[in-house]
Amino acid sequence: MLGGLLLASLLPFASAIQITIPLGSDNAVSVDGNLMSLSIEQDRWLDWSGSTSGNSFFSNTLNNLVTLTGDAPTVRIGANSEDHTDYADAPAALFVQEVFPPSTPTNPYPEATAIVAGPGFYEARHPLFCHVSLNDRGKAAQFLPSGTGVTWGVNFGGRNLTAVYLETQAIVGAFDNLQDTSLDFLELGNEADLYKNNKLRASNYNVAEYTTEWIQFATNMSLTAGLNCSDTRILGASFAGSSHLNASFSPQGIFANGILDSYPGQFISTISQHHYSGSFCSGSGGLLQDLMTKSTIRSNLSSFIPDIEATQALGLDYLFGETNSYSCHGAPGVSNTAGAALWALDYALFGTQIGISRMYFHQGIGFKYNFIQPVTLNRSILDGSNLASPQQPHIQPAYYAAIIAAEAIGSNSDAGRSVLEVNVNDSRIAGYAFYEGDQLARAVFINSLAFFNGATNRSSTHIDLSFTGSDSAPTSFSVKRLVIGFADDVSSVTWGGQSYETPDGRISGSPAEEKGTVAEGIDIPATQAVMLTFGSS
Ligand SMILES: *[C@@H]1O[C@H](CO)[C@@H](O)[C@H](O)[C@H]1NC(C)=O
Ligand SMILES: *[C@@H]1O[C@H](CO)[C@@H](O)[C@H](O)[C@H]1NC(C)=O
Ligand SMILES: *[C@@H]1O[C@H](CO)[C@@H](O)[C@H](O)[C@H]1NC(C)=O
Ligand SMILES: *[C@@H]1O[C@H](CO)[C@@H](O)[C@H](O)[C@H]1NC(C)=O
Ligand SMILES: *[C@@H]1O[C@H](CO)[C@@H](O)[C@H](O)[C@H]1NC(C)=O
Ligand SMILES: *[C@@H]1O[C@H](CO)[C@@H](O)[C@H](O)[C@H]1NC(C)=O
Ligand SMILES: *[C@@H]1O[C@H](CO)[C@@H](O)[C@H](O)[C@H]1NC(C)=O
Ligand SMILES: *[C@@H]1O[C@H](CO)[C@@H](O)[C@H](O)[C@H]1NC(C)=O
Repeated sequence: MLGGLLLASLLPFASAIQITIPLGSDNAVSVDGNLMSLSIEQDRWLDWSGSTSGNSFFSNTLNNLVTLTGDAPTVRIGANSEDHTDYADAPAALFVQEVFPPSTPTNPYPEATAIVAGPGFYEARHPLFCHVSLNDRGKAAQFLPSGTGVTWGVNFGGRNLTAVYLETQAIVGAFDNLQDTSLDFLELGNEADLYKNNKLRASNYNVAEYTTEWIQFATNMSLTAGLNCSDTRILGASFAGSSHLNASFSPQGIFANGILDSYPGQFISTISQHHYSGSFCSGSGGLLQDLMTKSTIRSNLSSFIPDIEATQALGLDYLFGETNSYSCHGAPGVSNTAGAALWALDYALFGTQIGISRMYFHQGIGFKYNFIQPVTLNRSILDGSNLASPQQPHIQPAYYAAIIAAEAIGSNSDAGRSVLEVNVNDSRIAGYAFYEGDQLARAVFINSLAFFNGATNRSSTHIDLSFTGSDSAPTSFSVKRLVIGFADDVSSVTWGGQSYETPDGRISGSPAEEKGTVAEGIDIPATQAVMLTFGSS
């Protein structure tokens, strides 16, 4: 430890901190490999999945994560366009017919305002299409990796029982005969707390009216889906915000109005909350630093603690069913940058510590905050201008956050995987320890001080490690670094020397070999994340 401090004192712009890591998992929180999952804007779902054949770029990016954890990211298909979707059997809508508003500089890739989904959008096992061979039927969910759990949104905004009935039939049918892909949840309505603002309901729509209406429509949905007593496949709430109060939109509000005592309410096992850190249609360096900052990440998430406690007190699970950095599909030059990868990683990992079991990061074709851009883009995601040459499918920097989380959580689900935030007395450094069974396996540190293009002094923080617990403490570790040129870079990020910025979304390059010792500690430059893997010697 002394050696580390001496070394640090010789480096320019370096500060040193001491971090103590428990060797045992006593206080750690159980976590799945798909902690960082995806929410997909429903209108262009078929662009993600592929229709008659799969989108291999998208499936490669998902399979990269499966390789690291054994768990496929869960996928929610829904959001804004969920409440604008109708269903028709007409052959013209075998897949889907949509109306898109014009692209604008602040909204280069707007959601469809009218969607008529046909059998092929969900599945094509309809009598009209018996002549189409099963392989050509566009059962889109079949292209997801084996083991993927899917949440699918049903239109509640339209208050049309026939649409609820037909969509539910089609969704449930889409999972018949799929071996390894399952329907985790049906979601009835997206952000109903905003219906009073977006004219889907009267301006005085309240949580009591919502609960009564929801019960009526969800009764039909659960009967149509054939849910039985052991099913828990309805997702509750999915509100944009929360009042945290019984009398208005919040988990507490629907509980107080008796949702769980209703017939469809018995199928709710999980409450979903949506959250963005703010809404900014233009970006700046200051905004990126705000996003990355440890204290704002913690204050954004901690405000939901009362809701999480109220949910868990009833024996229910709590997740973020839709989230990302800033609404407006992301802030340009902020949400699409490498700094946002550090935000996403700290945000998801901190969430586990307060009881958020999974986060679905929202994605849409051409949205600024995407992890993945799965199709060729012809317009700029930043301002909608025509691109001189089309941009092929690619990952954005935040994808690396999902890779790091997956790798740190690991694949040892048999032993049990858990994560613990370690106490770090530094406003820029966050730290997490990862356990397999009761053994410390890895640690991740994030330096969220933004180092921008044009800056010269890159500070670095030296970390000295010590351990508590009765097991023998490690003396060495291997190191992987998320190397970022500048916080506002949008590409050329590497993880352990390797890149996912490839034409097919698969990893490329040789791994960088770096070892360290506990005696020397580790340096972490501004705008970087590191993962230490502890060996047995
Ligand atoms: C209700 O939904 C059905 C099926 O999506 C659609 O055909 C019908 O036009 C809708 N009715 C209204 C009044 O919008
Ligand atoms: C659900 O609603 C549809 C459309 O109104 C109706 O045809 C169907 O019978 C209803 N199902 C149940 C179980 O009530
Ligand atoms: C309930 O439904 C599930 C899936 O739909 C099925 O696997 C299970 O056997 C059913 N249970 C009963 C008691 O019917
Ligand atoms: C909120 O509602 C719950 C029942 O869901 C009740 O136990 C609690 O006392 C209520 N809280 C307030 C402040 O009224
Ligand atoms: C959430 O984070 C943003 C910065 O990204 C900050 O401006 C905002 O105040 C935070 N909100 C809360 C409730 O802490
Ligand atoms: C970009 O243009 C190509 C070629 O016309 C087309 O295949 C692709 O769908 C377009 N991308 C989007 C997102 O519309
Ligand atoms: C945290 O660090 C500050 C200096 O940055 C120091 O004054 C303070 O004593 C430290 N607190 C603890 C609990 O170590
Ligand atoms: C770099 O850091 C040194 C020492 O803290 C300081 O004197 C100098 O002004 C800094 N330069 C820039 C460009 O920030």
